[in-house]
Amino acid sequence: MATILRTWSYRYPWLYNTISQLSALAVGGEARFRQLALESLPIETHTTVLDLCCGGGQTTRFLVQQSQHVIGLDLSPKALDRARQVAPQATYVEGLAENLPFADGQFDLVHTSVALHEMTPPQLEQILREVHRVLRPGGWFAAIDLHWPTNPLFIPGLTLFMALFETETAWTLINTDLVALLGKLNLPVQHHQLHAGGSLQVIQAQKQN
Ligand SMILES: C[S@@+](CC[C@H](N)C(=O)[O-])C[C@H]1O[C@@H](n2cnc3c(N)ncnc32)[C@H](O)[C@@H]1O
Repeated sequence: MATILRTWSYRYPWLYNTISQLSALAVGGEARFRQLALESLPIETHTTVLDLCCGGGQTTRFLVQQSQHVIGLDLSPKALDRARQVAPQATYVEGLAENLPFADGQFDLVHTSVALHEMTPPQLEQILREVHRVLRPGGWFAAIDLHWPTNPLFIPGLTLFMALFETETAWTLINTDLVALLGKLNLPVQHHQLHAGGSLQVIQAQKQN
């Protein structure tokens, strides 16, 4: 699965960002795409935010406009170097999402964009358990990721994108009921919205008190 384009998209940030920007046209452009998962959430300057699997800071740069306490975590030192240039206001930590180097209840908000589809099912469950642990009671988990289109017109585009850029884990994610999984892990979903003909899902879940 996937092609050399996947390797190149990770190697060359301009390619990754161009693909993101083109994909984002389906929801009205990059800025809207990057903030869809944050809509209506109570984010203030003092809100403690974790941008999980932050990559090159593509969404971190929007988070730092709302909060002065943003931490970006990623396993890739190269991605973190890029994020430091794009959003220097945040603090960056190299680490694994499935073993977060943070205290219980440290964050008001954990956000992740287009990263969950990179995880195997056991990894995904472990990561969501860690998200639950590092959130304070009442804190929010916000995610945007792939979803199987509800509008058949979007199926060819998503299928081509997956064939060129993604691996088996992305196909697994679009067949995963994230709402049910989060509910099982005590992170009940409060809002689940589909965009771009259903090929993108936004999830906002809240840790119970
Ligand atoms: C598709 S990119 C998404 C980057 C960014 N969030 C965005 O919206 O464009 C996925 C990112 O997840 C990171 N990643 C993958 N597995 C990870 C893990 N187990 N722990 C931490 N980061 C991980 C990769 O290094 C990569 O930067």
